[in-house]
This record gives sequence, C-alpha cells and structure tokens, in this order.
Amino acid sequence: MRDATPGTIYLEDYQAPPYLINRTELHFELGEEDTIVTSRLHLLRAVAEDVPLQLHGQELELLQVSVDNEELAEEAYQLTDDGLLIHQLPEQCVLSCKTRIRPQDNTSLEGLYKSHRMFCTQCEAEGFRKITYYLDRPDVMSVFTVSIEADAKRYPVLLSNGNLLETKPLDNTRHWVQWHDPFPKPAYLFALVAGDLEHIEDSFRTAGGRDVTLRIYVEPKDMGKCDYAMDALKRSMRWDEEVFGREYDLDIFNIVAVDDFNMGAMENKSLNIFNSSCVLAHPDITTDAGYQRIEAIVAHEYFHNWSGNRVTCRDWFQLSLKEGFTVFRDAEFSSDMGSRTVKRVEDVSMLRTAQFAEDAGPMAHPVRPESYIEINNFYTLTIYEKGAEVVRMIHTLLGEENFRAGSDLYFSRHDGQAVTCEDFVRAMEDASGMDLGQFRRWYSQAGTPILSVTDSYDAESNTYTLDVSQRCPATPGQAQKQPFVIPLAMGLLGDAGNLPLTLAGQETDHETEDNTHKVLIVDQERQQFVFDDVRERPVPSLLRGFSAPVRLEYDYDRSALCQLMSRDDDGFVRWDSAQALALQVITEVQQQLSSGAAVVIDPLLSGAFVQLLEDTSLDPAMVAEMLALPGESYLAEQAGEGAADVDLIHRARAAVKQAIGEAAEQVLLARYQALSSVDAYQPSGDQIARRALRNSCLDYLACANGAHLGLAHAQFLSAGNMTDRLAGLRALAFYGAANDWAQPLADFYQDWRHETLVVNQWLQLQAAMPDGGALDRVRGLMEHPDFDLRNPNKVRALIGGFAGQNPVNFHRTDGEGYRLLADVIARLNSINPQIASRLLAPLTKWRYYAGRQDMMRGELQRLAALPELSPDVYEVVTKSLQ
Ligand code: PHE
Ligand code: ZN
Repeated sequence: MRDATPGTIYLEDYQAPPYLINRTELHFELGEEDTIVTSRLHLLRAVAEDVPLQLHGQELELLQVSVDNEELAEEAYQLTDDGLLIHQLPEQCVLSCKTRIRPQDNTSLEGLYKSHRMFCTQCEAEGFRKITYYLDRPDVMSVFTVSIEADAKRYPVLLSNGNLLETKPLDNTRHWVQWHDPFPKPAYLFALVAGDLEHIEDSFRTAGGRDVTLRIYVEPKDMGKCDYAMDALKRSMRWDEEVFGREYDLDIFNIVAVDDFNMGAMENKSLNIFNSSCVLAHPDITTDAGYQRIEAIVAHEYFHNWSGNRVTCRDWFQLSLKEGFTVFRDAEFSSDMGSRTVKRVEDVSMLRTAQFAEDAGPMAHPVRPESYIEINNFYTLTIYEKGAEVVRMIHTLLGEENFRAGSDLYFSRHDGQAVTCEDFVRAMEDASGMDLGQFRRWYSQAGTPILSVTDSYDAESNTYTLDVSQRCPATPGQAQKQPFVIPLAMGLLGDAGNLPLTLAGQETDHETEDNTHKVLIVDQERQQFVFDDVRERPVPSLLRGFSAPVRLEYDYDRSALCQLMSRDDDGFVRWDSAQALALQVITEVQQQLSSGAAVVIDPLLSGAFVQLLEDTSLDPAMVAEMLALPGESYLAEQAGEGAADVDLIHRARAAVKQAIGEAAEQVLLARYQALSSVDAYQPSGDQIARRALRNSCLDYLACANGAHLGLAHAQFLSAGNMTDRLAGLRALAFYGAANDWAQPLADFYQDWRHETLVVNQWLQLQAAMPDGGALDRVRGLMEHPDFDLRNPNKVRALIGGFAGQNPVNFHRTDGEGYRLLADVIARLNSINPQIASRLLAPLTKWRYYAGRQDMMRGELQRLAALPELSPDVYEVVTKSLQ
C-alpha cells in the first residue's frame, strides 16, 4: 500500500534488463514467528555502463547484504519504497541478501503465505518480490537451486521446483532438503510448499521413453479426491504429445492443492499449485460442471509447461502470449475429450456475457494492453478468452497444418526465451507464408467489433449477395478503430438443406468435399460477397462456430431462426439461433410489461423447444444448451447503456420460462423420467449429457408449476451425486417458498458441513436465490462460522455470488445491495487487494442500469475516497469513474 497516487506503467517504456541473474540460490528457514530467506544471486551486467542495480522488494526486512561475500556498508545501498538500490557493482558478482518475512501474517496470498498449517507460494505476477530482493520481471530467467529447512514434524513434506537433490535431518527437530531446477525460469514460476501432506502417485511414459513420476499432494482430509485430476493430467500429457508434439521435460511433475488461493491454479515449473476447488473431485462433492472445470484447468496448467514456461513472456503486457494460447490449447483438449460443439457453446456464452461487457466498460483494454497501474487487474477475460479467440482465428485463417507448423516453429525458435505476441504472430506467418499484417490489430485495438450483414436475392440471375460492414465502438483511449480481419464462416440454408456455394468470380473448388461451408475474409469497412447459381432464396447461416469474437447484426425473422435452429449443419449456429429467438421473445415481453400491454408469449419458441425435446436422436447436452434461456446479465448487456431494467428483465425472462414449462409440460415430464439412471456415477460425456438435460427439464417444470416442486424435493433426497442433489435443491430454492427450501438447505448444511467445497456451494446458492430476503440472508451468512473474509473461495461464493448472480437483489432500488458490496470491498482492500479489486466488476457496469447509475457511482466514489487504497482497487475505481 502506498500513500502517493500509484503510477502508470507503459509498454513503450520497456527496456531490456541491465543485469542478468544466471544462477539463483535460495535458502529458506521456515518458522512460526518468522522466516529467514537468504539469497545468492549470480549477477552479470548486461550493459556497458556501470548502472546501479535496482532490485524489487516489498514488505521485506533486510538483515544483511553482501557482494562476493563482503558485507556491504550502509552507504553502498539504498532502501526505497519498493526495493533495494545498489551502486558500483563489479560486472560480475554474487550478491547475497538475508531478509526476514512473516508468511503467517500475509493475507494477500501473494508471495510466501500460509494456508491452514501449510506454507505455500504464489509468485505470478509480482509476488516473488515479497520473498526476497530480486529482478522480479519475466525477462530475467535464472537457474534456481533451493534449500529449505523446517520443523520435521509439522512440515514433513518440503517441495520446490525441479529435481530433489538431497535431504537430511538437522541435529535438532528440523530437517533440510535441496531442490534444483535445470531449466532457466523467471521468478514468477518459482514455488515452494511445506506441510504435513499426503499424496497419490502415478507415472507417465513420454513418447520419447522418459518415465515421469506424477504426484498430487493434499491435506490428509482430501486424500480420496485426487484420482480424477491424476487421470486428467495423464490424458493432458498424452494429448499435448499427439496434437502439439510437446513432451514433458523433467522426471517429476507435482500438483499441490491449497484451500486459500486467489485464482484457479498456477503453472510453477514442475510444481503446479492449485486452488483446491480446481483439483479435488468426488461424486459426493463435485458437480459435473466441476469435473469439467478440473479437467480443463489441470490441462491448462500442464500445457503452460511449453506455452508459458519453456517459452515465456518478455513483459506483462505480453500476458496473453501465454494465456490466450494456453486457453486455446485447453479448449481444444476439452473439445477432443467431450463434445466439441457443447464446449464451444459454453465458451461463447461466457465470452459474450462477460468479455463483451468488459470490452464495453471502463476497464476495456486490448489483448496486448499498452498501460496498467496494477498488473493483477489484467488477468482478465480479454487477456484469456478473447486472447484465445485471436489464436483461434489464426488457426482458422492458416488451417490445421500450417497452424501446427507455426506452433512448432514458435516453440523451437524461442525455446528458453522471454518473447512477445509479435514473435508468436511472426512464427505463424513464417511457417505458413501468410501475411497477418492487418490481423495484428486484434492485439492492439480494444472493443468488440460489430459485424453488420444485409442480403439480397435476385431470382432472375440466381445470385445471392451478402453486404457486410464492420465498425468498432470507441474504448478508453481509442476513439477511432481501423478495420479488423474477420474470418466469417458461413453457409446458406435452402429448403432441402445447406446449399453448395459458388462465390462469383471464383472457380468452384471440387477438391474440397464440403462445398456448403466457406470462410469469407472481411477486412474492409464494407464488402460485398456475391454467390452464383443460388436456385432459391436461402437463409444465411452466419458466423459458424463463432469464427470471430464479434457482435453479429443480421435481421433474422423468427421463422428463419427456427429453420436454422432445427436444420443448419453447424451446431453452434443451431444453438445461437435458439438464443436469438429466445432473446427476441423475451425482449418483446419486456416491452409488453413496461407498456402495460397484455403479455403474449410467442408460441413459436415453446413449439421449437417441444420439437427439440421430442427428438431423442439429438445429443441431450446440446438440447440442454439450446433450452437454456439467455441469462439475466446477458440480457442486461444486450439492452445497452442506460437501458437495462433488472426487474423487468427478471420478470420477462421468468414469464417466458414459465410459459415454456407449461406448454412443454408433458414432454418435459416424459424426458425427465426417461433420463433417470441407476448407473453408478461417472463423469463421462454420456452421463453428463443425460443429467444436464434431465436437470434442465426439472428446472422448467419447477418454474412452471409448484406441483412439480415435489420432483425437485424427491430428487434432492434420493440423489446419489452432487450434480443431481444440488439441482434438486436449487429448484426448491429458486421456485419454492421458504417452507419448501428452509429445511432442505439446513439438512444440506448438516450433511456436508465438513466439506468446505460443498459449504461454498451452499453459500453461493443462498446468495443467488432471487427471493426478497437475499440481502439479509447474505449479511447473516457473513457472520456464519463457516464464512471467512480471508478465504477467496468463500468470498467469491457468497459476495461474488450475490453481486454477480442475483441481479434483482444486488440492484435493489434502496441501494443496499451496492452498499453491502462496497463495505466488503473496503474491508478486503487491506486484507487482499486482488480479491477486493475483482469483486468490483459488477459496480463498474454502472452505466447500464437505468435508474441506478447514481447510487452505483456513489459507492465507487465512497471507495475512491478511502485512505490507503491499494493500487488494485484504486485503478479500477478511478477508471470506472472517468
Ligand atoms: N497463470 C495462472 C493461469 O492462468 C493464473 C494465475 C495468475 C494464478 C496469477 C495466480 C496468480 O494458469
Ligand atoms: Zn494460464
């Protein structure tokens, strides 16, 4: 925390480091009162002039500093606010620092801290500087040797990166170990763990014949929950060999689960540290969505070993270099493990709801930002998910083979280096011969482009014309935008199915077997595409597979949407058409409600949904996705600035849902019964699909008719897994009255109160329940013995759940919802600034909310006026108020 206004850091100010650290030796003496860290940094000056060395350091107590074993006199160095300045160093020397830290008091969960009785670290992005003085920047890569000593009883397990060299008892009650990581790495990939942990072990033989020991370390209470992550890890390792040609490079790979963690997980070299919610699984405590998330995150962190660790980022402006690429890789993995279309639909749905809102808000930034105040604020959906979309577009433009060649070239050319997004794009260009010059704008321009399409059909000449134009709204600091390169995947739907496509002036390509699918390249403000030989007026199937992260405007009428929804070749377009149809119907009901007109819900929608439900040949998971109405936050985002009326949105959506539930009651009941299963729980694609559809049937039934709450209750009581149990409980909690849910909620807590991950789901459900008692309930739960403001998972579940998933109560007209959130943020500002700042997201969207803007802004102003605002909160609050 600083008292001066935090400064801005600019990409254009980047300078290569003046010193290198070839080798880093660290010694940790872990203790209950304090921990002593001694470093030996093998420094080499990289520039000709004798410049002072500026090491980063925060919250450190310096005990001793020496150069080449000579203790430095006090005038030879200077302690500054955020580091240590040393003058007149030899060109090459060993600098040693001894510092004292207090991990047990570190509530920021950055640097070395304690989770329960275990010591652990989190160094990305700039946490290493809270451990010792260092050049804490990703372009300084060093070979680490780490020794740890600690009490042998309390901390029998002592881990760090790389290989275990030696272990020995010390003469008292302590023991000592030494680890060595042969791969040079930046400090943000350093990790240390010490605790009384147990582990499961397995092994993996790489394609090259190396046997790798795989271990997952957990607290003893969690030993029964590791098998799924281990299985996911082995599948990830095989997949990365087969699809990307990437082999693991050490003899050991460890995962450690910790309950207190700011993010999902961290890819530290050979010692991944996971939020326990992203690694521990058991059918009793984990939902199907939880299993899929664990599979994806285990894969994501493992894939970082190449995309992130072997090839890392030059500076934090390049964060998407590793994150966007790795999210693309884990999405491909999940697609190959399960249903590609369902995975795509889930990702797009999240992107359009949350990333588009970020792109339209005060924190909008390009995939490669140009400035930041606090880098922790830039672990965003834009860097991760939009970054992955940008990589996906390169994949689409280059094609599978060229993309793989580009990836191979990138890894071989830059192995062991800290590089930039530009280096990635250049490798893709060099391997494919393709010019991505204009495409690079995706990295530098923020905002979501709008792709506007109109069409015309000429029956005389059998020509069909698409007129395509693009524009992109202004974002902070970027008033004008240049045209993007937008791959527009498309087809044309005729009476009997998708039509063959012949672009005017182009030879028909008889080589490709699929001539009903094309990727049009939109790279100008306006463009026209003419198709010859079109014998009937088609319905255009646009942006297939969501081929670019844009908002598509095309004026579909409802019957066209129904046709696409039931007959198009592209699964994504079928889902998207269902969404668009539902959006039209819900919007119409909103208008009826606000004008006081009679509410008439277009039966076309329920009719289409009945058809989907009746077709048992369809993938149940896809049907469940198509039946899911657009969420309330998506509807608010669609309404536009100053136009979102949360109560109206909630009422209109509920009315439409109820109407569907009534119209489809018989088929919903029939499918609900038919999809029941007596098989033992498996997180298999098949079973997950069946449960997903069955539970969405239950959701509609319970919403439409109180008589069906009995089904929910029976399911809650008899469920053999958490997915079904929670779905039953949720239906009671969302659609029942207090006497329907009070007892089940209490019983649920009694049954699962020893499983902290289940208690979190219990907190989250109660935070999201739309009944009028939500605010008081949340205040009450904040006093519950199982709530803890210092545990990010609990804060996310209860406070994040309330602000993010309970729009009607968060946006109460008396402003109490906003006040609750701001009060929590004010307290968290000093406890855990990263979490405080993340919680701000719902308030930053104040411009959208009709009639609430002043109250929301008022809370932001109240926060802005707090003394000792962390840079994290300061940046988001001030940018939101600009
Ligand atoms: N690098 C981690 C990932 O994406 C995320 C992370 C960032 C974790 C910062 C902790 C702190 O896999
Ligand atoms: Zn990542």
